[in-house]
Amino acid sequence: MPSVFIKTYGCQMNERDSEAVAAQLVAKGYTLARSEGAADVVLLNTCSVRDFAEQKAINKMRNVAGTARSEKRTQILGFMGCMAQSRGKELIDRLPDVDLVLGTQKFHRAAEYLDELLAGKRDKIVDVEAEAKSEAAIREHLVNGSSKTATSAFVSIMQGCNQHCTFCIVPATRGEERSRTIPDIVAECRELVGRGVKEITLLGQIVTSYAKRDLPILDGKSPFVQLLDAVHEIEGLERIRFTSPHPKGYGDDLAEAYARLPKLCESAHIPLQSGSDRILKLMHRGYTRERFLGIIQKLRQAKPGIGITTDIIVGFPGETEEDFEQTLSLCREIAFDNAYIFKYSERRDTPAADMPDQVPQEIREERNHRLLELVNEIAARKYDAFIGQTVQILVEGPSKKNPARFTGRTRCNRIVLFDGSERHRGQLMDVLIERTGSFTLYGNPAIVNL
Ligand code: SAH
Ligand code: F3S
Repeated sequence: MPSVFIKTYGCQMNERDSEAVAAQLVAKGYTLARSEGAADVVLLNTCSVRDFAEQKAINKMRNVAGTARSEKRTQILGFMGCMAQSRGKELIDRLPDVDLVLGTQKFHRAAEYLDELLAGKRDKIVDVEAEAKSEAAIREHLVNGSSKTATSAFVSIMQGCNQHCTFCIVPATRGEERSRTIPDIVAECRELVGRGVKEITLLGQIVTSYAKRDLPILDGKSPFVQLLDAVHEIEGLERIRFTSPHPKGYGDDLAEAYARLPKLCESAHIPLQSGSDRILKLMHRGYTRERFLGIIQKLRQAKPGIGITTDIIVGFPGETEEDFEQTLSLCREIAFDNAYIFKYSERRDTPAADMPDQVPQEIREERNHRLLELVNEIAARKYDAFIGQTVQILVEGPSKKNPARFTGRTRCNRIVLFDGSERHRGQLMDVLIERTGSFTLYGNPAIVNL
């Protein structure tokens, strides 16, 4: 049977889509290749959020195709995901070695199309059409050998986004919001827990809008909180997380859920984007600085010690030094546990790309640098505060960088390294934090056991 190599760019949604495609192909008898050179099929699952991510995937494909040609190997080459969706056939015009372009509503068709290409029945396939019910088609998970059962799994609950932030290409690449049903999601989670999974992260581009148009509010609870309640009931599941929410989805029902549901981990990734009301409005974010601050206070009240991370864009069109300083001051005030900072990148067909006063590249660079310094300084301080504390971790397995060490995550989603062994995998255990590194805590389980 043919072998396939899948490389993923971008967010956790993409990771999850790649896993589902891999699982689907393995079920059909494909093997997973360790490198692109050894594979009969190479698929790149792409990201369009910033231009840089698109260029990386295009360059990669050019290299893969060039190497295959110079080594006289025939390989089936495909683009999947967001860039496949937004560029479609243009990708084959640009890179004629590419055989397959598979859009974001077509992941479940990968096996069928690859079979046709491998059998020579078709020469090129481009499919970026919308497909009803495709949101429920991302469901297969890779099953490893029993000793390697994953402890943590991602479950896709919805596709698309209707928010239309003016900088964002996601509504174009992922389409309108479409949600799976609660019973369907719960069944998938239950099956994963049956296989040994202890932690589930519910995924979507805007999870707090989950099933907003399909389900009514019940007892003051939004459909998303109803879903959290349903998943929480699964016996054997220890931890629940979700990403990404939208700040406007943090009603009292969600804040209360943190206090009420013990399995819901005290960690939240809440994209801020900017600390300036003027820029937030231009971005079409639907909240103010004050409102955002209120949400953070509410969450910290519900769960003291909650880990809060965010996304911020610097250099959005029209952002002045004053606007940027508002972002700096809000970051100082909130003290995020970490922040992912993005230099604004013009995306085709988004309103912001045509706005006046585009910020020069060197100013985007400079603001990126200044904000990063502040964020890192605050984060390091918050990490240091863990020294001497005992925290619960869920052990995931050997550390990728140093296999002699094991790695786990705290409930507030910080990475902990410790001297562990295979018997710790999948365990919830307490460790004493002895020192910190860059975005890492070093723990000692032995001391706690005394
Ligand atoms: N809610 C979505 C957001 C996707 S984009 C999700 O998590 O899947 C992830 C982050 O990329 C955004 O929060 C934003 O900070 C950044 N981003 C999106 N479009 C961008 C652009 N045009 N330029 C720079 N950064 C961008
Ligand atoms: Fe993009 Fe805004 Fe939706 S960032 S994914 S349009 S909430």
